[in-house]
Amino acid sequence: MGEDVQSLAKRRGFIWQSAEIYGALAGFYDYGAMGATLKRRWEDVWLDFFLDLNDNYHLIDSTTILPEASLKASGHLDSFTDPLVECNKCGSAFRADQLIENETGESAEGLSLEEMDGKLTELGLRCLKCKGGFDSARTFNMMFPVQVGTKGGDVAYLRPETAQGAYLNFKRHFEIMRRKLPLGLAIIGKAYRNEIAPRQGVYRMRELIQAELQIFMDPETFGAQLELDEMKGKEIMVQLVGSRGRSNAEPVLCEILIDAHGLPPFFVYHMYKIQEFYLEEVGIPGDKFRFFEKSEKERAFYNLLHFDIEVELSTLGGFRELAGIHYRGDYDLSRHQKHSKEKMEVSVDGKRLVPHVLELSFGVDRNVWALLDIHFSDERTGILRLPPRLAPYTFAVFPLMKKDDLVSIAKELHYMLKCRFSTLYDASGSIGKRYARMDEIGTPFCVTVDYDGLEDGTVTVRDRDSTDQKRVKKDDLDRIAFGLASGTISFKDL
Ligand code: GLY
Repeated sequence: MGEDVQSLAKRRGFIWQSAEIYGALAGFYDYGAMGATLKRRWEDVWLDFFLDLNDNYHLIDSTTILPEASLKASGHLDSFTDPLVECNKCGSAFRADQLIENETGESAEGLSLEEMDGKLTELGLRCLKCKGGFDSARTFNMMFPVQVGTKGGDVAYLRPETAQGAYLNFKRHFEIMRRKLPLGLAIIGKAYRNEIAPRQGVYRMRELIQAELQIFMDPETFGAQLELDEMKGKEIMVQLVGSRGRSNAEPVLCEILIDAHGLPPFFVYHMYKIQEFYLEEVGIPGDKFRFFEKSEKERAFYNLLHFDIEVELSTLGGFRELAGIHYRGDYDLSRHQKHSKEKMEVSVDGKRLVPHVLELSFGVDRNVWALLDIHFSDERTGILRLPPRLAPYTFAVFPLMKKDDLVSIAKELHYMLKCRFSTLYDASGSIGKRYARMDEIGTPFCVTVDYDGLEDGTVTVRDRDSTDQKRVKKDDLDRIAFGLASGTISFKDL
């Protein structure tokens, strides 16, 4: 990871390893005050954007502990595994596919255990810690078991994905929400994966946060229920299985993805929406964004179609998966219907069906890290150019000096702004250091009360990105602040 972003993330209160004073466990992270707010803002933007896609999409919440039977039905008990190899000398554990990928630079996700053993031998790979040899590769289930109740109680697991909560609640919500399709159930919450060797910081966590939207729909009618015209003539950055080997994704017309590549229109429409979310809502540059198609061998066991959503991150050395769009067919509801004996089949407009699922799945921690990576620039002291909607504080208010007359006006303005916006007050230290601190946590605008302003009823507003300052009437500040925060007034035009 890039040292600059990582040290800023710690020093300025974003994110660091959990239980640091006890040496920390790999793969567990805590958010500080700035990080928790940034995360919450990302989640709010995500919810606003994706729930807005349809009036019948809703936020729900569900438990993080699930009974074993539900995870047997979902397939996770048998198939939610990673290939493990252990050193026959020191016992260190590694993911076989990652050892191979690190060496060859090519994906080893689809290889069988025997093929992985063969590759490890062929490449002459040895234990990264002691250079010992490896035992044969075997599958390792990544779920964390928990014991519910006393000894002999029920076997359960920490959920490996939030998705299952939506499937288990589908039937009840379908009834509550007037028996309509599509029905969308979104969950934002923790999921748990006992990663074999989480060495990539925030990218591979054992306790992670997901934001997932499960869209239950009829694949035959879903396309006609969407505003498909919106994507006409629009391009999506995509790397298809057939074009692997090229270093970059290519812009492909939505129509081509449908007509030439056979993707369902409803799938492409949601790819288009996800791209819009990344490029327009959270400010990811277009050349750092792509969809990456997973082949039949690489995709998760429940998926019929699977594209990762990747962003190029300098701290992680290239394009990295931040989210996924998955067409899961009727796999989940059919499996739960079979195992629970509860009917998941529904009747809509006289047609009986087990609804299919289109899943939009986002790793929240990865997305928050991506914001730090993408928007951090060290050309000045260190400046985080977060879009105003995502910044932990939208405004900071300072008296130029800690003098009573300046302080009382600054406090009055702080009070006024904080009723509507996330606003920080700071009177300590030099004004230059206070600006620098705000640059580092991404505060887009600082308001300063100085002696000139006492004379003529003005304050200065400083823009984080240009460092320019403009003098505005104190009485206009409320209106101007609203414009700057909402983007209806640009600083340049003040
Ligand atoms: N629900 C999909 C995933 O966890 O990747």
